[in-house]
Amino acid sequence: MAHLDALHRPLLDLRISVTDRCNFRCRYCMPREHFGADHVFLNKTDILTYEEITSIASSMRPLGLRKIRITGGEPLIRKDIALLIGMLRALDSQLDLALTTNGILLAKHAKTLKEAGLNRVTVSLDALDEDMFKAMGDTDHSPKEVIMGIDAALSVGLGVKVNMVVQRNVNEDQVGAIANMAHERNLVPRYIEFMDVGTTNQWNMESVVSGEEIRQLVSNSIGPLEPVDPHHPSDVAKRWETENGQQVGMIQSVTAPFCGDCSRARISANGSLYTCLFATNGNDLRSMIRLGAEKVDLTSAIKAIWTKRKDRYSEQRNEHDQPVSKIEMSFIGG
Ligand code: GTP
Ligand code: 5AD
Ligand code: SF4
Ligand code: SF4
Repeated sequence: MAHLDALHRPLLDLRISVTDRCNFRCRYCMPREHFGADHVFLNKTDILTYEEITSIASSMRPLGLRKIRITGGEPLIRKDIALLIGMLRALDSQLDLALTTNGILLAKHAKTLKEAGLNRVTVSLDALDEDMFKAMGDTDHSPKEVIMGIDAALSVGLGVKVNMVVQRNVNEDQVGAIANMAHERNLVPRYIEFMDVGTTNQWNMESVVSGEEIRQLVSNSIGPLEPVDPHHPSDVAKRWETENGQQVGMIQSVTAPFCGDCSRARISANGSLYTCLFATNGNDLRSMIRLGAEKVDLTSAIKAIWTKRKDRYSEQRNEHDQPVSKIEMSFIGG
C-alpha cells in the first residue's frame, strides 16, 4: 500500500548511499580544497553494514517501496557491493534495483552485479574530451574507461542511462558529443542542470545552463526536439525526442522543479533517513537498529517521518535564504 506524505506524495523510491568516499573529485561535487587529504570521512563503524541496509529496505516495503538506487560517493569502491545487491534482490524479485556510478570500476564489476540481481546502472559522464573530463573530475582517469564500463554493462544485459551535468563556460560544447555517444548505443542521455546541493561547490545561478538552453544545444547537434509523455509522474527526467525517435532526458531541478511528484527517500551511509536532497537534518535509523529495533519498529518510525514530510526545496529555492548547513551530494548520493 502506498503511504502518503503531508503533500500526498507516496514513498516509492529509496536511494541508499553506501559510502561517502569517491575516486573522483568533481569540481561541482567534491572540490579538492574541501575534500582533500585532511577531510574526515565516515569511519567504517559509522557506516551501515549490508545487513543493516537490508533491514531498512525491508522495513520500507510495506509502505509501498518499488525502486532502490544504490549511490555514494562512488558505490563501486565499497567492498563486495554485489553482496548487497544480492541481499536486496532476495527481499523482492520485482524491486527495480539501480546503481549510480562514475563508471571507472564498472567494466570490472558489471557481470557480478548483473548476476547478483541488479537491473540497471546510471553512469555519470560530463565530457568526452580528455582534458575537460580530467579537469571536471579532478582525476587522471580517462573518459575511455567510462565508455568501457558502459559497454561492459550493456554486454552483460544491464540497463544503462547516461547522466551529464552541464555547467556554463565549462562543458556546454560536449552536449552533442554525449548525445551521439549515447545514441550510437541506443541509450538515452540525460542532461542535469547544475544544482545548489551542499555548500562547497560555489554554485551560482550564472553557472546554470537551463534545460531550455541545453535543448537548443542538443537540437543543433541532432535536430529539433518534441516533448514525450512521461512513463511515471515522479520521473525526474522529462523526455524529448527527435523526429526519428532519438530520445534525450532533461533534469531541470533549478528552472522547472519537480517536488510536486517527489517520491524519494534517502539514506546516508551512516544510516540517517533524509526526506529531501537539500535537507539539513536526517533521522537517525542506525541508532534504532543498533539498539535492537525490530523491522516493525523501523516501519512505524519511517511511516511517521514520511507522514509529516513537507519538503519542496527546489520549488521554494527563491523564497528563502540558502540554509547554511545543507548536506553534500557525496554524503547523501545523487
Ligand atoms: P531513474 O530511476 O532511472 O528514473 O532514475 P532517476 O532519474 O530518478 O535518478 P538519477 O539518479 O539518474 O537522477 C539524476 C539526477 O537528478 C541526480 O543525479 C540528481 O542530480 C537529480 N535528482 C534526482 N533526484 C532528485 C531529487 O529528488 N531532487 C532533485 N532536486 N534532484 C534530483
Ligand atoms: N548538480 C547537479 N548534479 C550533480 N551531481 C552531483 N553534484 C551535482 C550538482 N551540484 C550528479 C552527478 C551524478 C549524480 C550522482 O549526481 O553528476 O550524475
Ligand atoms: Fe564522485 Fe559522483 Fe561526486 Fe563526481 S559527482 S565526485 S563521481 S560522487
Ligand atoms: Fe524532492 Fe527535495 Fe528534490 Fe524537491 S528538492 S524534488 S522535495 S528531493
